[in-house]
Amino acid sequence: MGVAIRGTGSALPEKILTNQDLEKMVDTTDEWIRQRTGMRERHIAEKETVPSLAASACERALENAGKKAEDVELIIVATCTTEMLLPCAACRVQKKLGADKAIAFDINAACGGFLFALNTAHHYIEAGACRNALVVGSEVLSEIIDWTDRSTCVLFGDGAGAVYVEETTKGERSCIIGMSQGSSGMNGQMLYCRGRAVKGETEPEIDSDDLLVHMSGSEVYRFAVRQVPVCIGRALDSAGIGTDDVDIFVLHQANSRIIESIAKTLKADIDRFPMNIERTGNTSSASIPILLDELNRAGRIQKGQTVVLSGFGAGMTYGACVVVW
Ligand code: UT7
Repeated sequence: MGVAIRGTGSALPEKILTNQDLEKMVDTTDEWIRQRTGMRERHIAEKETVPSLAASACERALENAGKKAEDVELIIVATCTTEMLLPCAACRVQKKLGADKAIAFDINAACGGFLFALNTAHHYIEAGACRNALVVGSEVLSEIIDWTDRSTCVLFGDGAGAVYVEETTKGERSCIIGMSQGSSGMNGQMLYCRGRAVKGETEPEIDSDDLLVHMSGSEVYRFAVRQVPVCIGRALDSAGIGTDDVDIFVLHQANSRIIESIAKTLKADIDRFPMNIERTGNTSSASIPILLDELNRAGRIQKGQTVVLSGFGAGMTYGACVVVW
């Protein structure tokens, strides 16, 4: 039995923070940010939350697939920034959607999380444990960013993206045909955040530095440009196809230079690597499904085309998935 992506959805907070806004907050320039990252603006949550963004993205994915929330059997939310420890974000999404039948839980694999969640849903469906799933990446990274640190605060944005996946019908070609994922815990120091404050309730005795993201940008950069092409290669091998057979690469939107370097290593034309990083910044686990939704709705992915999804994140984690659309 195969597993196909039937619908996509996404949601971005209303507020937009531009590079010019950041110039007023830290010692940076629009030119530096654009040249080093490809970003111009990002969305920042004010009233939106991880579950509210996730639920909006899910509603749009269900609508796009022509399905009803009450028939959903599994909800997996990939997130590393949910506002509450308990209940998990997926159960709060279940409540918002009224998806009574679903099994719901979260996965934290940071920016790699969406691919880990998609892989998990794929295995649940293949094993016959359920017939369909909503897979979501949702983040409010702005809550754990140090807004005085120019080396990290210019990079991230908030948002959510979702896909509705379902078991295929007999003889159907559209499905996930290859996957690869991995973790490199020995590189955990490259990108970390020690704790999470409940909104508005930070205790004075807690060192606020512990509640913020710390990153060695250049180490993460080197890890990504080395590991992602290897991971994509493994996923393509598992699908029994090569780089030339891929129509579109939907990569984690962390840095346009990282994507250009990966394209070069794969010897694939950069035109096959669409980006929306200019408008969204790095939305962690949400970046791949947000971009996928934008491409799907713009008609830029056609039925029968081969799409590779791939990303990396804190952990370090990395993954790739090959889909026939
Ligand atoms: O989802 C995964 C999350 N993270 C990532 O994917 C991050 C991966 N890494 C990157 O994208 C890049 O390493 C960065 C964009 C973070 C940094 O770019 P870089 O080309 O590696 O710059 P750098 O860290 O080597 O810094 C170069 C210079 C430094 O100044 P000096 O020491 O050369 O005088 C930094 O202090 O740029 C300075 N710098 C800035 N200048 C203006 C760092 N951040 C800024 C800034 N504005 N925002």
